[in-house]
Amino acid sequence: TTKLIIDTDPGIDDAMAIFYAAAAPDIELLGLTTIFGNVTTKMATRNALRLLEAADLELPVAHGAEKPLVLPPFEPSAHVHGDEGFGDIPAADPKGQAVSEEAADFLIRMAREHKGELVVCPVGPLTNIALAVQRDPEFVKNCKRIVIMGGSLEAGGNITPHAEANIYHDPHAAEVVFAAAAGKVVMVGLDVTLKILCTPEDFDGIKERSPELGGMLKDMSVFYIKFYQEVANLNGCSLHDPAAVIACTHADLFQTRAVKLGVSVEEDTSGKTQLAEDGRGNTHVAMDVDAEAVKALFLKRLSLLP
Ligand code: BDR
Ligand code: CA
Repeated sequence: TTKLIIDTDPGIDDAMAIFYAAAAPDIELLGLTTIFGNVTTKMATRNALRLLEAADLELPVAHGAEKPLVLPPFEPSAHVHGDEGFGDIPAADPKGQAVSEEAADFLIRMAREHKGELVVCPVGPLTNIALAVQRDPEFVKNCKRIVIMGGSLEAGGNITPHAEANIYHDPHAAEVVFAAAAGKVVMVGLDVTLKILCTPEDFDGIKERSPELGGMLKDMSVFYIKFYQEVANLNGCSLHDPAAVIACTHADLFQTRAVKLGVSVEEDTSGKTQLAEDGRGNTHVAMDVDAEAVKALFLKRLSLLP
């Protein structure tokens, strides 16, 4: 099994990724760390706790950075994920609370304790991961892999013509992480996630087989799919964050290209992931995917949930 921590800004597709990880027999989820993005960090922590409670999982949630490394704080994307992160579903207060250790320190400690075994899967802006890299020069080395949902090499952006949202919201943090990549970082970005589409009918099936948790995802997906319908005229949503979690255990379903990757912080192309010239180590960028197989795995494993 893969020891996994998801760094997340839940978020509708984040919820899908977390429930997938809860169901997957080959994943041992060790905890969640939270970040702003789809919602504020405060809301992300609350939503992460709620999702774990719904899934009956008692795991640590570590509260993350509340603003980007360099950029000023920004407003979360309410039009994509709803005011509270779960579409039209009201986000009730959780019973539990976050651990006292902050996200970056939690990640550093877990990477030391599970040296060479821990996979970190960031599916939001990379601020916590950059802070871990800056605070502990051994952090990347201690991780088995860091599998990021974000960026794109050929597919263009989804928040600007150049940039994918997670990278755009903290490009300086992403640059820190890619500069430290050392062959350990995998980027699962729009080049592949846009190829994996889940339709309203797929979510009906999820709800049928898993009325409780699958039902929650179905209800959230309505808002998310409405957004995809409006901006891209698509009958479904991309499985962005679940694809990254699946790449943590099923690398064989993804075709990657090893490149030295950097991030633009120039005003007009800010957040664009691009080839870097300097001597940094490789990032493995997913360029193609067996989309049918990823989706089938997603549907099959969610049906294991109550
Ligand atoms: C990414 O941005 C967020 O809105 C999603 O949760 C996903 O992590 C897709 O660009
Ligand atoms: Ca996300």
